[in-house]
Amino acid sequence: MSDVTAATAPDRTTDTLHKIETRQARIGIIGMGYVGLPLALLFSDARFRVTGFDIDARKVDALNRGDSYIVRIPATEIQLARESGFRATADYAQIGAMDVVIICVPTPLNEYREPDLSFIVGTVTSIAPHVRDGQLIVLESTTWPGTTEEVVVPLLEQGSPAGLRVARDASAPGFYVAFSPEREDPGNDTVARRDIPKVVGGCGSAARDLASAVYKTIFNRTVPVSSPAAAEMTKLLENIYRCVNIALVNELKQLCMRMDIDLFEVIDAAKTKPFGFQAFYPGPGLGGHCIPIDPFYLSWKAKEFDFRTRFIELAGEINSGMPYFVVDNIVEAMSQQGKALRGSRILILGLAYKRDIDDLRESPSLTIIELLQKRGAHVEYNDPFFATVGHGRKYDLNMTSTPLDRIPDFDCVVIVTDHSQYDYPAIVAQARLVVDTRNATRNIDAANIVRC
Ligand SMILES: NC(=O)c1ccc[n+]([C@@H]2O[C@H](COP(=O)([O-])OP(=O)(O)OC[C@H]3O[C@@H](n4cnc5c(N)ncnc54)[C@H](O)[C@@H]3O)[C@@H](O)[C@H]2O)c1
Repeated sequence: MSDVTAATAPDRTTDTLHKIETRQARIGIIGMGYVGLPLALLFSDARFRVTGFDIDARKVDALNRGDSYIVRIPATEIQLARESGFRATADYAQIGAMDVVIICVPTPLNEYREPDLSFIVGTVTSIAPHVRDGQLIVLESTTWPGTTEEVVVPLLEQGSPAGLRVARDASAPGFYVAFSPEREDPGNDTVARRDIPKVVGGCGSAARDLASAVYKTIFNRTVPVSSPAAAEMTKLLENIYRCVNIALVNELKQLCMRMDIDLFEVIDAAKTKPFGFQAFYPGPGLGGHCIPIDPFYLSWKAKEFDFRTRFIELAGEINSGMPYFVVDNIVEAMSQQGKALRGSRILILGLAYKRDIDDLRESPSLTIIELLQKRGAHVEYNDPFFATVGHGRKYDLNMTSTPLDRIPDFDCVVIVTDHSQYDYPAIVAQARLVVDTRNATRNIDAANIVRC
């Protein structure tokens, strides 16, 4: 009997698959930030009608005016998308009209460095009353393995007024749920977004196949995995790999400085090995929304299994110590010039957490500025991407970018972010002392440079 039922049960995904193929599927993206907005534009470019959801009224208004608030996205791209029907809204009632809903909201750590899922929980709770039969919901936010099955699915099921459940195969009624991690690398123009393979794990094969079909319209390759947890873990492995390897070179940099060996030269030599080595570079500390944060999502979850993720903790310890190491080197470099840090004038070059981007989340510059101020230095900054910097979740600077022609006024210039538009020879020529944390002055031979 069950065989007969299985053989005759209709495939309930056919209609949505057809809508995806013919670009009639309506796509809703929740969270119009660094991940969600570019994704919305990609789908719009692929001729889908896209709606962007955000609780930030300023973003919604900007997008509906055809403006951009992310430096690397020109307003013309938003305007083009608007001509193809792209609209932004804060109204969750419109979720019901979407065939596919993709969630790209933040996943920070709380003050105890534990996962803060409040944005995911808030979003899912808000959309649950509007979710309908046959709809596909995909989570893209980086999170601990198990979030999709243990948090997202129960909230959607509990919040569904019609009592809808997740459909685990193509014949079952209900909505489909999948997880697909974002792999964007801000500022990296060497790989086209389309060429970055997209990992997809579904709550059942139907959800996985539907999500793969959606992403295949904008990515050249999808990588289906067996479950949402495997996809969630894939993202964490990628970021933990970076975090641990950066910690390794940050530790080796400190040793090499004592041994008077140039680690950058060593890395350049090592990377000529055609197998078994990938170059990572030391720096002033980790920054950004991902690498300093994501590994601790796994550490937290591991505790439930009575397991300590020692590599992650050690890497975290080394990487979070780097801004302190930089400040110690500034103090030492100044004392070599017979100056004390207290009362001195320091100019920080670069606030962004990495070169050529307009993102200062978790940036080591912020910690370095704070540490220098606490020790009595007068600190200013220059960053072509931030004319002013005010108040954030973890900083309260209220500063304005200092023009570079004022470099001679400072006792020390610290290169924290090696933006490519800086003219390093000119900076070194004007400065009394340069502390370079990025090896940006590698081709300059001058006595006033200290590399750390
Ligand atoms: N930025 C990256 O390079 C990057 C790369 C890979 C993965 N990720 C992951 O992607 C996720 C999103 O990161 P991001 O950098 O885009 O964050 P972001 O802060 O730039 O954007 C998130 C957006 O979500 C909005 N939002 C918050 N709660 C909401 C709600 N309930 N409903 C609607 N909108 C809401 C915010 O207003 C904001 O505009 C995170 O989990 C992050 O770890 C980010």
